[in-house]
Amino acid sequence: MLTAIIVAAGSSERMGFDKLFALVSGKPIIAHTIAAFERTSCVEEIILVGRADGLGELRKIIGQPTKVKQIVAGGAERSDSVRAGLDHLNLKSDFVAVHDAARPMITPEKITRVFDVCRTTGGAAALAEPINDTLKRADLDLAVKESVDRNGVYAMQTPQVFARKLLEEAYRLVAKKNVSVTDEVSAVELLGCKVVLVPNHDFNFKITYPRDLPLAEFVLKQRASLPSS
Ligand code: CTP
Ligand code: MG
Repeated sequence: MLTAIIVAAGSSERMGFDKLFALVSGKPIIAHTIAAFERTSCVEEIILVGRADGLGELRKIIGQPTKVKQIVAGGAERSDSVRAGLDHLNLKSDFVAVHDAARPMITPEKITRVFDVCRTTGGAAALAEPINDTLKRADLDLAVKESVDRNGVYAMQTPQVFARKLLEEAYRLVAKKNVSVTDEVSAVELLGCKVVLVPNHDFNFKITYPRDLPLAEFVLKQRASLPSS
């Protein structure tokens, strides 16, 4: 069984207000994100990880019926929030998808694709965007130091889907080594396990700045106007 952990416990420092409750087409960002997982048939359960002081707010936006079985408090770092979600997994979950609530443009088709690749390639897969720009590494004073070969370079997105045991073991190692990781692939890399990327050519950017809101609204509206496949 596949359980989705949606992490929504960030502080939105760069926005200055809780970006996950910003309205896009009249609905909070987080509601769009949850709706995509509700509509994905292979997702059986959702665990929502929110800020300790905002769980009531989250509870209010969950529809009925819902796959959201638990709403739990996250931690200071994203990895603490993922770990809080892992601590509440149903014993029957043998696969886990972790997704950033701040990526409301995810689709059921992409979630299903990452899950399928995870199951057929050894238990670890993640959505990723191929890099098209020329890349440079720069000094602190912004003087260009060198070119970075963009061949085979991907920007990591979510969902990232794993066999549950693998992800739990990875996070145990993260704690033991006391390292900081910004996604699950980085955690699983510590184990030296193979992770397969699923290239995404569709919009799935993380809402980060106020300028992202009208773009997300445009993308979601355009999708809603197309016949579903
Ligand atoms: N997140 C979380 N717990 C944290 C930090 C982040 O659950 N302690 C979640 C966020 O809610 C978001 C996702 O992880 O859905 C990715 O984090 P990010 O986009 O960096 O969100 P924020 O930290 O809230 O915002 P920012 O860094 O842009 O200020
Ligand atoms: Mg952050």
